[in-house]
Amino acid sequence: MAFALLLAGLAIAASSTPARAQEAATHGALAMDQQIARLEALGITTTATDPPAGVVGAIWQASIPADNAMTPERIALGRKLYFDARLSADGTVACATCHDVSRGFTDQRPVSEGIAGKLGRRNAPTTLNAMLLTSQFWDGRAADLEAQAKLPIVNPVEMGMPDGDAVVKVVVADPEYVAMFQQAYGRAPSYDDIGRAIATFERTLVFLDAPFDRFMAGDVNALSGEAQRGMALYNGKARCVTCHPLNAANPIGSDNRFHNIGVSARHQDFGSLAKQALTALAADSSEEQLDRLALETDMSELGRFMVTKRRDDIGSFKTPQVRNLTISAPYMHDGSMQTLWDVMDHYNRGGEANLFLDGGIEPLALTDTEIDEVVTFMVALTDVRFAKEGETAMAAQRTLAATKRPFKDEALAMRRVLPFESKSAAAGQEVRP
Ligand code: HEC
Ligand code: HEC
Repeated sequence: MAFALLLAGLAIAASSTPARAQEAATHGALAMDQQIARLEALGITTTATDPPAGVVGAIWQASIPADNAMTPERIALGRKLYFDARLSADGTVACATCHDVSRGFTDQRPVSEGIAGKLGRRNAPTTLNAMLLTSQFWDGRAADLEAQAKLPIVNPVEMGMPDGDAVVKVVVADPEYVAMFQQAYGRAPSYDDIGRAIATFERTLVFLDAPFDRFMAGDVNALSGEAQRGMALYNGKARCVTCHPLNAANPIGSDNRFHNIGVSARHQDFGSLAKQALTALAADSSEEQLDRLALETDMSELGRFMVTKRRDDIGSFKTPQVRNLTISAPYMHDGSMQTLWDVMDHYNRGGEANLFLDGGIEPLALTDTEIDEVVTFMVALTDVRFAKEGETAMAAQRTLAATKRPFKDEALAMRRVLPFESKSAAAGQEVRP
């Protein structure tokens, strides 16, 4: 009898503990209720409809579509949708699975995992400050946050819903949603309004209060000497500023353009991929098709070419923001770089030689000390609200970089060897899409 009771007790413990653990562990994301609690602790509310600190009013206005003004009702609706895994085919994936509050609003994986553990080809950028980009995705294939939000829900390797109608059905089945849509947009739920509401929520995720901003505002003690030397290098010898400008018009450090800096050149035969892409896009040029080719096939590596079909866009990707980098590793469109030292080593050697390399990328001859200084400056671009998380992550990066610098190449960086001498095969590579 006592034994049976004990067993029953164990069964209860076993059934509740794993359920809890499973919820927390779905694709590695923090449980949604805990994410929302963290969001609130960060000071993000549904009532903030004014331009956030660090964003010039004119830029704030320009990034909000005329038909989707910020209202508390829309933000609240968008927030509910962002954290709702019911919008996925198997009920396990929400936006917040891959853009997780506890992981820098990304998933901190090289490439993302969607329903049934399916892997995509690209690294999830953060949703923090995404409202300040003038196009969305690594190849800019979505014009704004509204258009962007509608794609992952129906992408087969992300949230996997068959189509927009199926998503609307899920939403309509929840009376709370129906009421919220009515309050937010004055009409019944639609797929377009789902995209709109989520975009409105994302516009509240602006994090631009970093030591760098405090320094620029006049607090001379906000940046260490090392960080200040890093800033001078960033704006000078290291040439980062040419693509990652940091100013009132561009507070996040992206020129919003597309460049081939050689990340995908490491492992791709661009010529035959470009031919495949043109054939696939001739058969179906819808945005859903483009989304699938970008996330599910080797053509992902063609980058901006998939959108413009211009030869000189082969291997080009959108310049990402350089804000909050300490909490958003790994880096680059394919998540191929684990530390900020890897990023610096890549630039220092002049990227990776290929026929479409951007003219702004060449060997930098930075010393080890100078590399450390630029890294220290980049760390100072992380919002103070993430300081603790960032410190922990950077300690891990520092440990890793102490033994592993896979992209470091002194001979190339110091121009003792020229790129095509070390990669003569690339010079002969035929590219005629
Ligand atoms: C399975 C993981 C996954 C899910 C779920 C997901 N995303 Fe993403 N997200 C990604 C990846 C990967 C990319 C980059 C894809 C690309 O550029 O081709 C991305 C890109 C983005 C971007 C572009 C940011 C930039 O810097 O260009 C935004 C914004 C975004 N997602 C928001 C959302 C929203 C909103 C949802 C829910 C409707 C969502 N994501 C669902 C993985 C995911
Ligand atoms: C010619 C333009 C250009 C220059 C110059 C440049 N970048 Fe970049 N940067 C890019 C592009 C484009 C990417 C994305 C490339 C990809 O993923 O294929 C990128 C990616 C990055 C990333 C990864 C961010 C993330 O979230 O994944 C960091 C960090 C970065 N750059 C920092 C720097 C620093 C520091 C310098 C100066 C040493 C620099 N960049 C110089 C265009 C540039």
